[in-house]
Amino acid sequence: MRNQIAAANWKMNLTITQAEELLNTLLQQPKQLSDHQKVVFAVPFPYLPLAKSKVDGHTNYFVAAQNCSNKKSGAYTGETSAEMLQSLGVEYVVLGHSERREYFSESHAMLAEKVNIALDYSLTPIFCCGEPLNIREAGTQNSYVEVQLKESLFHLSAEQIQKIVIAYEPIWAIGTGKTATADQAQEMHAHLRKVLSDKYGKEVADTISILYGGSVKGSNAKDIFSKPDVDGGLVGGASLVAGDFVQIIDALK
Ligand code: 13P
Repeated sequence: MRNQIAAANWKMNLTITQAEELLNTLLQQPKQLSDHQKVVFAVPFPYLPLAKSKVDGHTNYFVAAQNCSNKKSGAYTGETSAEMLQSLGVEYVVLGHSERREYFSESHAMLAEKVNIALDYSLTPIFCCGEPLNIREAGTQNSYVEVQLKESLFHLSAEQIQKIVIAYEPIWAIGTGKTATADQAQEMHAHLRKVLSDKYGKEVADTISILYGGSVKGSNAKDIFSKPDVDGGLVGGASLVAGDFVQIIDALK
């Protein structure tokens, strides 16, 4: 079975004390995961060493950064490199989140560079894509999201693309409480898998985990994750609430 992943995206939330409390609560009696099930905490940069020390020793629990630089190293004040993340033992990095695309002007080309550099330093990119509301209303979401994949990922080899996790996050569902229905998620995920299959072949496409993000909660995770092409979730608000996130982990196939 493909990897099924519950990924917490804390965004810019929590103090260090709150972060430690949340990790302690979640990891006190962590759910034992099957080989194909993984839990990832995408925490703010300053909390990465703490989170890493907390997940260490818990099989299939990992830490992610929420971004990395597209530059290798040097005079880029305020940036964090993929190499730095690797040196901390970080395993995943969220790239191309819609908030980064919108507020920090991340382009397809810049994201292609970030994907490359993340892979160079053995980080697994969680590559985000998803359409805004006006695109969904116009019914052109499939081609919109397809372009995001093609422009930032399709330069990769078949071997490299299998190292990527994709997260489909419709922007109209992020932080709005307005979740895509399980059927809407499945429809897009199946489309993305077809796009991947057309480029890399079905065998390769079938190995790639595609997560859904956008108002995933303890109460709706099971329904969404039950769909055949939905391989878990990238969770914002509900990942800050221990009880909710535990339910979301429990909902993994
Ligand atoms: P919410 O779960 O708060 O809607 O956020 C989704 C998201 O952006 C995860 O990356």
